[in-house]
Amino acid sequence: MIEELRQLCLRRAIFFPESEIYGGFAGFYNYGPIGLKIKENFIRAWRKVFVEPDNIYEVETSLIQPKKVFEASGHLESFSDPIVQCKKCHSIHRADHLIEETLHIHVEGKSLDELQDIIYNNNIKCPKCRGELGQVRHFNLMFQTYVGPEGKEEAYLRPETAQGIFVAFRRLVSSLNPKLPFGIAQIGRSFRNEISPRHFLVRLRQFTQLEIEYFVHPKRKKIPNFNKWKNQELRILTREAQLKNEDVIVIKAKDAVKEGLIPHQALAYFMAKEMWFYKKLGIPEEALRFRHMLPEETPHYSKGNFDLEIKFDFGWKEVVGNAYRASYDLEKHTKHSGVELFVEENGKKIIPHVIEPSFGVERSLYAVLLYALQDDGRGWKWLKLPGFLAPYQVAIFPLVKDRKQIQTAKKIEKKLKKFNISCYYEDRQSIGKRYAKADEIGVRYCITVDEQTLKDKTITVRDRDTKEQERIEISKLKSYLSKKLETI
Ligand code: GLY
Repeated sequence: MIEELRQLCLRRAIFFPESEIYGGFAGFYNYGPIGLKIKENFIRAWRKVFVEPDNIYEVETSLIQPKKVFEASGHLESFSDPIVQCKKCHSIHRADHLIEETLHIHVEGKSLDELQDIIYNNNIKCPKCRGELGQVRHFNLMFQTYVGPEGKEEAYLRPETAQGIFVAFRRLVSSLNPKLPFGIAQIGRSFRNEISPRHFLVRLRQFTQLEIEYFVHPKRKKIPNFNKWKNQELRILTREAQLKNEDVIVIKAKDAVKEGLIPHQALAYFMAKEMWFYKKLGIPEEALRFRHMLPEETPHYSKGNFDLEIKFDFGWKEVVGNAYRASYDLEKHTKHSGVELFVEENGKKIIPHVIEPSFGVERSLYAVLLYALQDDGRGWKWLKLPGFLAPYQVAIFPLVKDRKQIQTAKKIEKKLKKFNISCYYEDRQSIGKRYAKADEIGVRYCITVDEQTLKDKTITVRDRDTKEQERIEISKLKSYLSKKLETI
């Protein structure tokens, strides 16, 4: 289905490569008008579920940040992948992926020397020309730039939105005076110079993140809204199960905390909501799992990371990273900037712990579109998007190009827009083709004005999923739609 989805995305300009006329630009994709509407709807739904119910403030910080930030955060030193170059054809490969694909073993967390030994001992050659491979070395994934006409100030495109929040922490705390626990959220583009971008929208060099840094008191284990989500079932692939090649366990959020599997209520809280949210987006339960990252995949400062993974055609892939970063970031920036980062409680300075859910938007949308793509023999493939994600709720058509039908249809369009129902008008091509095109991008309902409309003021409403049509009085259309349209 992936190729079919890619074709659909290109045909309807949902997503398309940057600089296509110059042969594309690997790892960079653009949103067309339909894709952008789906993205905006996704972000709106995310805000409603993850930001609005809690004490969470949203900010927008700079895409380019000075070198100092990444010296402090550790990105400059260690945000890198191991690479190896062919001595003959000079092509560059990711050393760990090359080993994993050739020997089918996991090498996450291994040092450069260890990777080098594995390549040498197993006589692994260049996959392109069978040439001998050189030294394994680090390649930093951040895009570097120089600021100002003299080009003296080294800077980087942010590899995550999170650092913008940590370096703004003092300003935000002094202006908002928030009480723990509280969160700072950020929506925006991040950049990583991936060695081999691939799998369409999965490994991009420019991508959109939705991140929340949720600050909690380091000694308090409870958060306000956990009770509402405590019974949500989570599908967790434990560390033990990964080592023994076993399947996920299904456990309630409250039990996962009680048993110490998830180290903080706030982490379980976000994971519970994620499970619910992605199911609402149309991902089947069995295609969702939280993988407890293995010790060698987890940064030393972390108290536990759980990736929400979705099953794609090519395998499981992280879509949301959940990390318990403790006080690492605030302490590092305090040390490097000389500015103390803390919150005050009863006259005491507290360095909070932070729990971070970090969502990848393009990966999420890719998964949503993949599971929404239907081929049920109606003659065209179509997107069964949840109503709240559909780029348009409604399309409005005159059955034929008759002056009165056109006039009435345009009047209905105007009225629905006034009620904030997203819709478009179309009168080109046959009605069948217009239905097909609407289905293809997931439009939830099609309204058709016909000859009968002019006699009795009724229209037909076609349901995308069943193809069934109901005849409704125009005067009842708004209340009919408001009952039908799905929200989150
Ligand atoms: N802030 C976590 C990440 O970008 O993966």
